[in-house]
Amino acid sequence: MYRAQKFDSSHLDFYLFLRQELVHLAEHEDEWLAALGNAAALLWHQLDDVNWAGFYLLKNGLLVLGPFQGKPACSAIVLGQGVCGTAAVNRQTIVVPDVHEFPGHIACDASSQSEIVVPLVYRGELKGVLDIDSPKKNRFLARDAAGLEEFVAVLTQCLAWDKVVF
Ligand code: SME
Repeated sequence: MYRAQKFDSSHLDFYLFLRQELVHLAEHEDEWLAALGNAAALLWHQLDDVNWAGFYLLKNGLLVLGPFQGKPACSAIVLGQGVCGTAAVNRQTIVVPDVHEFPGHIACDASSQSEIVVPLVYRGELKGVLDIDSPKKNRFLARDAAGLEEFVAVLTQCLAWDKVVF
């Protein structure tokens, strides 16, 4: 049973707490789908002001919708398109303070106002992206980018990528 209380996401140790929770959930998890599902649920429950949190996974050159929390979303994104496709191609985190200012932003939920996308790279290979949307502008700051990059680094180490077939 998941017992952790909600942690104050403005606290200095918030992302340390989040990583520790992720390790508990994912380090002995052999099923990659279960690990990604729980990672999305963890983010959803612990982050404030979030209306979508989840993964797109690379399949045949497309980013295909993976485990997530939030409203139903577009099922595939072309590499290079939208925030997700741009972050994936550049293999760089993108923080979007106002989605309306990002050329080519793909709107899956009309309430999204800001967004962060962190690429999942394992042993030099692009595996997908973590995408988080917020109904508030300027929700994601430099500390969130750094914290979520470390979160994704732990997650990619925990996942059994050799078993990822979908
Ligand atoms: N906004 C993203 C699309 C995915 S949804 O936000 C879940 C983008 O521009 O790539």
